[in-house]
Amino acid sequence: MNAQSNKSGHLMILSRRNHLKTLLAAAGGASLSGLRPLETLALTTSALTTSVPPPDHERRIQWWREAKFGMFIHWGLYSILGREAWAMGDEDIPLEEYEKLGRQFQPRPNVARTWARLARQSGMRYMVMTTKHHEGFCLFNSKLTSYCAPQLGAGRDLVQEYVEAARAEHLRVGFYYSLMDWHHPDWRLAKTDLAARKRFVDYTHGQLRELMTNYGKIDILWYDMPVPLDAQGWQSAEMNDMVLRLQPDILVNNRNQLPGDFSTPEQSTAAAKNDWESCMTINDSWAYLAGDNNWKSAQQLVQNLVECARDGGNYLLDIGPRADGSVPEPAISRLQAMGGWLRRNGEAVYGTQRCRFPHGNIGVYTRRKNTLYTIVYFWPGSSMTVGGVRCKVKSARFLASGHPVQFEQRGSQLIFGPLPEKPPDEPVTVIAAECDAEPVQDALSSKADPEA
Ligand code: GLC
Repeated sequence: MNAQSNKSGHLMILSRRNHLKTLLAAAGGASLSGLRPLETLALTTSALTTSVPPPDHERRIQWWREAKFGMFIHWGLYSILGREAWAMGDEDIPLEEYEKLGRQFQPRPNVARTWARLARQSGMRYMVMTTKHHEGFCLFNSKLTSYCAPQLGAGRDLVQEYVEAARAEHLRVGFYYSLMDWHHPDWRLAKTDLAARKRFVDYTHGQLRELMTNYGKIDILWYDMPVPLDAQGWQSAEMNDMVLRLQPDILVNNRNQLPGDFSTPEQSTAAAKNDWESCMTINDSWAYLAGDNNWKSAQQLVQNLVECARDGGNYLLDIGPRADGSVPEPAISRLQAMGGWLRRNGEAVYGTQRCRFPHGNIGVYTRRKNTLYTIVYFWPGSSMTVGGVRCKVKSARFLASGHPVQFEQRGSQLIFGPLPEKPPDEPVTVIAAECDAEPVQDALSSKADPEA
C-alpha cells in the first residue's frame, strides 16, 4: 500500500476545493488546466462521492461479514526466484532478464485444488489470488498482452483453474489485481505523460473488464498499489462502476483510492469504523521466500482471527506457494490447526458481531447477539473473573465440548469456576455464556476509554 491513502482507508469528506487540491497534489502537481475536459468532468462527479461505499453495499456485504476468514495467495513469476513478490523492483532486475521467467513458469496442473482444499479444511470461507502482481505478469489470458501464463510456459489459464478449484470447495472467489505494473512501459510514464497515462489506464480498465467478464461470478475484487495516480487519474469511480455493472454482487476494496466496500489494514488487526479486513502474512513474506522461517504460531494466528472478529473485521491470511504450486509444510500445519480449532469453536467467530467488551488480560471476547464468548489465551486454572457484566447470565458452556461451566455473578463480576486445572482446548479455550441482553462491558477500566 502506498502513502497516498490514509491509514483507515477512508477518505475524509473534504470541501470540493480542498479535495481538488489533494487530488492534484497526489497527481504529482499536474495543473487543472492540463486536464482534458473528460477528466475534469470525472473529477466533479467522483470527487464528491468518495466518502461512501459503492451502491447497494449493505446487501452485497452480508455474506462477507459472516465469513470472517479468507485465504490470500501470492503467486507469480517471483515464486520461481523465491525472494518475495518485490524481487524485480527491489533488485532492479532488467526487464528482458525477468521476462524469461515467463517461459519457466510451469506449475503442476490444477494445483489450485490443493489450496482450495486446504482453505476449506482451515475454516476459510473465501480466497483471493493474485491475478497480476506488481511484476505485471498475468496468470489469466488477456487479449491486451502476451505476457501471461496461457501464452507462455504454463500454456494454461491459471485464473480459470483457480476459480474452478475455489468453486469446487464452495468457497467465494476473489481476484487481487495490482494497479502498479513494472512491466508495462506506460506505467513508468503515467504520472507525467498524459498520453501514456491514458494508454495505461485504458489497459488497466480493459484487463479488469476481461477479469470481470470471462470467469463467471466473482465475489471480490482486491485492488492494490494505486501508485502513481490518484482516484481521478485511475478513473476509479468509472472503474468501480464498470466492475459493479458486470458483477452486481461483487465487493471491491479501497485500494484504488476510493473507500470501496471495505478497508484493508495490512499486517495489523487495528479496527476501523466501517467494514474492514486485515491482510497478513503467515511468516513475514507475501510470496514464497525460501529463507523465511519466521512462522507465526497457530495460537498467534487464532488470536489474530478472533481479534478481527471481536472488532467486526475479517482476517485474510496469506500463503506464498512455491512456483510449482506446493505450499510450504509449516504453513499447512498451522492452517490445519486453525481449521481443527474452528471446527470446535467456529460459533465464536463466524457471523459474530462487533463486541463491546474490550477489556481482559487473559483473553478476549467475541459476541453473537446475546451470547458472549470468552476466548482464553492464558488458562488461569481454578477460576476466572470477567468484569463489567451488567446483564444476567443464564448459562455457560465450553464451546468445544458443550460441557457446562459453573459460574456465579457478584455485582458486575462474572466468575467462572471451578475450572479444570489444565486448558480443555488448544491453542485457546472458549467459554460461551448466554446472557439475557446484549453483553456490553461496563468495568472500572472502561472509564479510562475515551470512546466509552
Ligand atoms: C503490500 C505489498 C504487496 C502485497 C500487498 C498485500 O502492498 O507491497 O506486495 O501484495 O501488500 O496487501
